[in-house]
Amino acid sequence: MSEVREPGSAAAGRRKIEWAMGRMRVLGALVRELEPERPLEGMRVGMSLHLEAKTAALAISLERLGARVSITSSNPLSTQDDVAAALAESVDRVYAWRGETEEEYLRNHRRVLDDGPQLIVDDGADLSVMAHETGAAPGIIGATEETTTGVLRFRAMEREGVLRFPVIAVNDAMSKHLYDNRFGSGQSVLDGVMRATNMQVGGKRVVVIGYGWVGKGVAERFRGMGARVSVVEVDPFKALEAYMDGYEVLGSMAAARVGDIFITCTGNVRVLTAEHFRVMKDGAVLANAGHFDVEVDVRALRSMAASEEEVRPNVREFRMGDGRRLYLLGEGRLVNLVAADGHPIEVMDMSFATQLLAVVHLARNRGRLESRVHPLPRELDEKVVRTKLAIEGIEIDSLTEEQRRYLESWRYRAPPDAANLARNASSASAASSSPLMSGRPPSTTRFPARYTLRTSARPAAMTTFVVRSHAGLSSIELRSRTTKSALRPGESVPTSSSPAARADPMVAASSAARADMTDGSPALALWR
Ligand SMILES: NC(=O)c1ccc[n+]([C@@H]2O[C@H](COP(=O)([O-])OP(=O)(O)OC[C@H]3O[C@@H](n4cnc5c(N)ncnc54)[C@H](O)[C@@H]3O)[C@@H](O)[C@H]2O)c1
Repeated sequence: MSEVREPGSAAAGRRKIEWAMGRMRVLGALVRELEPERPLEGMRVGMSLHLEAKTAALAISLERLGARVSITSSNPLSTQDDVAAALAESVDRVYAWRGETEEEYLRNHRRVLDDGPQLIVDDGADLSVMAHETGAAPGIIGATEETTTGVLRFRAMEREGVLRFPVIAVNDAMSKHLYDNRFGSGQSVLDGVMRATNMQVGGKRVVVIGYGWVGKGVAERFRGMGARVSVVEVDPFKALEAYMDGYEVLGSMAAARVGDIFITCTGNVRVLTAEHFRVMKDGAVLANAGHFDVEVDVRALRSMAASEEEVRPNVREFRMGDGRRLYLLGEGRLVNLVAADGHPIEVMDMSFATQLLAVVHLARNRGRLESRVHPLPRELDEKVVRTKLAIEGIEIDSLTEEQRRYLESWRYRAPPDAANLARNASSASAASSSPLMSGRPPSTTRFPARYTLRTSARPAAMTTFVVRSHAGLSSIELRSRTTKSALRPGESVPTSSSPAARADPMVAASSAARADMTDGSPALALWR
């Protein structure tokens, strides 16, 4: 039996789900493709994800592939009760409501496990960790993990040798983190802060803490709204990247003194603490975008405050002893899910399409995957993105066979085509005015390479020469000749040092031969 809080609001929830599903076209396309096969027939899937409309779409999609779903929320504050009510009418079991106590949160997770899931779709790893702690793990074929923090936890379990089933790191798929963590968080965190506070963003000093995928998206979107953004980092590479992206990079204490709005995006613990709160300006706003509510030290804030009060939905005022007021959004939980609707639909469409393929992959490979963290196979990752491109009507190029081989070989260098040679010749030598060149490109270039040079001079001249390459530099050795070249048989000359000549011995040969020809021939043809 499902348990939700507002069964009477199911109609409103249904409209939200329909709105989302109508726009989740990648997920829809994959469901239509897989539905006839029913790859999840009879399997129980346990889900712990932020329970809003896009998540409902994923749960319904999994049932359309044959699964029976039991679902709870991965965060006590992110459930939308109307959506949960509507979902309870569509899928097998729903146990979630907004504002669960810690005990209710754990109990709802236990109920999902009591339903005996064979597959788990996790967001933050709480359900899987509980499965390990309660002895439910042996019945589980595998899990998929939605977010960075969850993947880190699973990797820690693998390192300690305690992971009991395979996990697909959906978060690490390109089709997920490249769009979801960055663009999804960028838009929705901005949305959450704006909805919660109704404050002007332009002109504010916004401090983004953590410049990973989430932080980059958040910084970019706040800057786009006119905020003056500063970044705080601990990773020197990311700090320099932020600097080169044009942000001011500050230490957290310096940032604490100047910021109007602080957004933690680290996935780390106690990033904003008492020492920061002590120096913050009156009116500073604190928000978190990381997975758990551990980034802003709420306990310290509470202990420092003379009083606290909820002054707007999702805005709690902490009044300090010295009269300063600090405002915490969404209790320090993911602001984009607590105070807004989470990521945009189109972004979650791709993330959940990736989830769907990962779940089907686990089901199809039952018993074949080791108990460790696996990447999503590349072809599945690419399938999501190619489906999205097709839906958007975006065409992209593909590599030619020649380009593919070029990129895969350490020997192979692009053969000169007529245009390449002509371009090179016209820039290389003023003496050879309007040269006419043609070449039959070699299929591969191996050194030493033997070429025959023909000129249009009378009598027709032919020169055979050998191109050698050493340490990236080519030289030409003349083997025989019938022209009036200054080169003697067996003599070698360094070729042009231009990048084009260094990269391509044919180009090198043509420029060296042209420079060396004494008959002033305007036209050259190179043959392998
Ligand atoms: N709000 C959302 O909807 C949403 C979406 C995706 C991911 N997440 C969560 O957001 C968090 C970050 O995810 P990500 O994909 O950007 O991870 P990431 O690993 O790409 O980035 C985290 C960054 O934080 C930095 N960092 C760590 N500790 C720090 C500290 N004390 N001070 C300053 N910087 C610090 C790291 O150096 C790193 O650059 C995770 O908890 C993830 O699960 C949230």
